[in-house]
This record gives sequence, structure tokens and C-alpha cells, in this order.
Amino acid sequence: GRNLVIAVDGPAASGKGTLARRLAAHYGLPYLDTGLLYRMVARAMLDAGQRLEDAQAAEATAAGFDETGFDEAVLRGREIGEAASVVAAIPGVRRALIDRQRQFAAAPGGAVLDGRDIGTVICPQATVKLFVTATPEVRAARRHKELAGRGDTASFEGILADIRRRDARDSGRGDAPLKAAEDAILLDTSALGVDEAFAAALSIVEKRR
Ligand code: C5P
Repeated sequence: GRNLVIAVDGPAASGKGTLARRLAAHYGLPYLDTGLLYRMVARAMLDAGQRLEDAQAAEATAAGFDETGFDEAVLRGREIGEAASVVAAIPGVRRALIDRQRQFAAAPGGAVLDGRDIGTVICPQATVKLFVTATPEVRAARRHKELAGRGDTASFEGILADIRRRDARDSGRGDAPLKAAEDAILLDTSALGVDEAFAAALSIVEKRR
């Protein structure tokens, strides 16, 4: 059959990563967590002692960094998520990361990508676009549980505040803000368990592929 490109967008801790990974496994497609690219840029800048707001340095970093050698646990930490959303608001950073993402999406057979702007900017021709949401409280509770499992003692209130701040920054930026593409299917996972959310996503994809 034709290529199957699945775009999965949504706010922080919406469950989009879990869904995207499972869809990729189900269809035997490669999976790209595009948030990691922004996290790598932020991490590389912090390592180099650069200010995250330095647009020129951020753009140069995004244009030339090597994706290997990062500690995944550090990349997925709270501080780097926050830092990533700062560099992700810089248009030159976004521009520098477009080709890597589109090349990945062009894999033979297709691919699954998750992020904030996959359906709107990176893969506007995706076969299926999912926009995964959940209330801030549900997302904070999930993140709280996940962090606690890794020994992080961050409070629920602190995590909820982080999530609200990140939502506001990601939705409010001028370039490629977080929003559902017009042809995206909304999937609210607030009341769904992981398996239920996956079953719902799968039936959406099956109807459209
Ligand atoms: O998805 P994740 O939480 O790892 O993303 C970290 C940050 O990277 C987001 O808050 C967002 O600012 C940015 N990002 C983005 N576009 C994407 C993926 C992530 O702007 N496609």
C-alpha cells in the first residue's frame, strides 16, 4: 500500500509519546520523538554555557548538533523540557530542524512523528493527524507519577505549574504554535487508560489509511 505517515501532536504529558510509540510498533514504522531534538539543542547550549535566549547561538547549535551522545534520562528531565520550550520559540531553531524531521518522515513505508507542529508544519500531507489532549490536571498527575517512579520528588502543584507555563509558551509563540491542524482528529485521553487511548487511536488510523 501507500506510505503511512502518522502525525501525533499535543501538549506536554498528553500521552502522545506513548501513543505514537505504540502506533509505530503496531505498523512496523520508525518513530521520531521530535521533542527530543529541541531538548538536545537546549542541552547542548546549557553544556556550552550559552544563554537559551541567544537566538544566534541557538540557531547555530540547531543547525549543527550531533544526535548521539546525549543521556536520555537527562534529556527527559523537567529542566530540559522547560529549556527546550524556550529555544523552540526561536524561529531559526525551528527552521534548522525541519529537514531532519522531513527526511525521517520520508522513510520508505512511512513513519510516526510526535511533537507540536507535525500536522501543521512538518508533515502537512500526513496520512493521519492525531491531536492528543488531556486536562492540565490529568497531565500533571501522570507526569507526577512518572517522575516519582524515577525518584524525583517534585510536587503535583509544581508540576501542574510547569505544565501550564509550558502550554502557554508553546501555544503563544508566533512561529508554529501548538495547535491542531484543521484536518486533525482530536483525541481527549483525560478519561482513558493507556490501552483505551491506543484502541481509540488505532481505530482512527484504520479508518483513514
Ligand atoms: O514533547 P516534549 O515535551 O519533549 O517537547 C519539549 C519542548 O519542545 C516542547 O515544550 C516544545 O516547546 C518543543 N517542541 C516543539 N515542537 C515539536 C516538539 C517539541 O516546539 N515538534
